[in-house]
Amino acid sequence: MLEKLMIAGGRPLRGTVQISGAKNSAVALIPAAILAETTVTLDNLPHLSDVAIYTEILTDLGASIEWSGDQMVIDPSRMKSIPMPNGKVKKLRASYYLMGALLGRFGEATIGLPGGCNFEPRPIDLHIKGFEALGAEVSNENGALRIRAKQRLRGAKIYLDMVSVGATINIMLAAARAKGSTLIENAAKEPEIIDVATLLNAMGAKIIGAGTETIRIEGVDSLHGCRHSIIPDRIQAGTYMIAAAATRGDVIVDNVIPKHMEAVTAKLQEMGVHIYEMDESIRVVGQPEYESVDVKALVYPGFATDLQSPMASLLCQARGVSILTDYVYSNRFKHIPELVRMGAKMKVEGRSAIIEGSFLSSAKVKATDLRAGASLVIAGLSVAFGGVTEVTGVEFIDRGYENLVTNLSALGAEVWREREE
Ligand code: EPZ
Repeated sequence: MLEKLMIAGGRPLRGTVQISGAKNSAVALIPAAILAETTVTLDNLPHLSDVAIYTEILTDLGASIEWSGDQMVIDPSRMKSIPMPNGKVKKLRASYYLMGALLGRFGEATIGLPGGCNFEPRPIDLHIKGFEALGAEVSNENGALRIRAKQRLRGAKIYLDMVSVGATINIMLAAARAKGSTLIENAAKEPEIIDVATLLNAMGAKIIGAGTETIRIEGVDSLHGCRHSIIPDRIQAGTYMIAAAATRGDVIVDNVIPKHMEAVTAKLQEMGVHIYEMDESIRVVGQPEYESVDVKALVYPGFATDLQSPMASLLCQARGVSILTDYVYSNRFKHIPELVRMGAKMKVEGRSAIIEGSFLSSAKVKATDLRAGASLVIAGLSVAFGGVTEVTGVEFIDRGYENLVTNLSALGAEVWREREE
């Protein structure tokens, strides 16, 4: 059943919101667990549709999974590398991690090319280059990748032409049980990469340098089970921080690692938002007026591309002209025409959005990907007077925001779901 979100804006968000475990870690840690021979327990797991689909995929591959509350217990001991050219793997982008994980454990994988948030073409050539460097043969068979190692994978030196989160993690997964040592250069430095390396090391892997641009993986013969707690979701946290500022609210965003939030914290402060950092939480106090700023979405530790769309909604409220440039994805701007329907004065030029201060009004808008959806929710919350914003495409938003309606309602927002006819 399709649903839409209804938002009566104009209410400042006030109170405390708890941030769940990180989606982009969870979708890598669950497949990483299959590299073990015994049971892996993951704590602080978010309740999200992508996690649920991954659970079904692993079950289809023979894993036994128990998921209760925010804990998942994965027993991969009876798994097999069954070809999955179609079906569930096409529903999520991060199914590409099955390639590295199955290759690392069984020496072979056949996985349909991934689906997910297709806001622009998202190639996986660097993942393939990495698998090949480790000694696997890769062929494309009717839209599925067949990856096969005739003998045990061998460590190699791999330079990534572009900094890629997915390729860095996928190569770590494949190399963890390879023979010899692998060096990933120009690796991505995102916190989710450190999270995956931490899990793999707890499973017995030998990985050093995660979080820097050079990662060394000393292959081991086997990996064992362990227990690991997932890091907080920095994108979810950033979205609530931006929503608090946009509604002139006063919100404590709890269960975060403030260090992961530095780029967004600095940008909000530059606009004039008041921010107070504590050990595991951040208080965001909105102000009546904001200054325009320029934002450049970059790889970590730069401003996250995933927060570029939410930020666009806040920049509508700044005095003057802001320029928002995405250096990770050149064309991730599907939220812009929808925001324009709500009265925003913005246009796209090349890989930038030029945003002028403007008053938003309610409208019927459509989320076409996860973070575009978050941007429309923030815009709806910040419509000052009257009217209800209708956001369709809620299924995209559900991929990344656990308990969104409950959380926003607890913060004083007037937001609810209705069936989409
Ligand atoms: C991850 O995607 C995230 N997804 C994305 O989160 C996020 O937007 C992105 O990193 C950038 O931070 C997950 O972690 C599951 P990349 P990923 O490989 O790994 C190009 C969200 O909303 N590239 O770091 O797929 C690519 O086109 C999302 O939660 C190649 O050219 O992104 C892009 O321009 C969506 N060839 C850049 O590199 C490749 O083989 C970075 O992409 C791989 C990537």
